[in-house]
Amino acid sequence: MTAMKTAIIYASSHGTTEKVAKQIQFGIGADSTRLINLKATRAVDLSLFDTLIIGGSIHAGQMQGRVRNFCKKNMVDLLQKRVGLFMVGMNEPEFENEFNNAFPELLRNHAITSKCVGGEFLFEKMNFLEKLIVKKVSGISQNISKIDENKIAELVKEINL
Ligand SMILES: Cc1cc2nc3c(=O)[nH]c(=O)nc-3n(C[C@H](O)[C@H](O)[C@H](O)COP(=O)(O)O)c2cc1C
Repeated sequence: MTAMKTAIIYASSHGTTEKVAKQIQFGIGADSTRLINLKATRAVDLSLFDTLIIGGSIHAGQMQGRVRNFCKKNMVDLLQKRVGLFMVGMNEPEFENEFNNAFPELLRNHAITSKCVGGEFLFEKMNFLEKLIVKKVSGISQNISKIDENKIAELVKEINL
């Protein structure tokens, strides 16, 4: 077996970040890239990887606590790896603020690539309150996908450099 070199570490509330993570995995090469869902994994052995790609999605302005805690807890190790960061969200005017708020400054400065890759509204996966919030805030009430394939391709390219 070949050694794992890259891990994509993520949290996803309704599956879109997971979908993006799989696209990144495919782009880098599935054989050498492991997917790690922070909702299903307790401890991650970072020593197995030289490259870590970390991502999550934004809900009410915030990235999942699991992703924020992972970054904080592992900061010293992360600063010694190649790091890529990505954010999934739908409120494009706020992307920069949301991204800066999601990842610590030290890590953002260290990352070799950082991308906001858009997102999706999947109404069948939302609960009543989520539907209400999305309709009220965005005016959208039907499924929509705004995943930015170009940004994903750029991230893959910059990781593969
Ligand atoms: C209740 C709710 C609140 C959201 N709030 C934001 C937000 O504040 N900013 C933003 O950019 N996107 C927001 N979004 C869009 C999500 O980031 C988008 O649906 C994303 O694709 C979810 O990815 P996930 O399925 O991996 O969690 C929100 C979505 C929902 C359902």
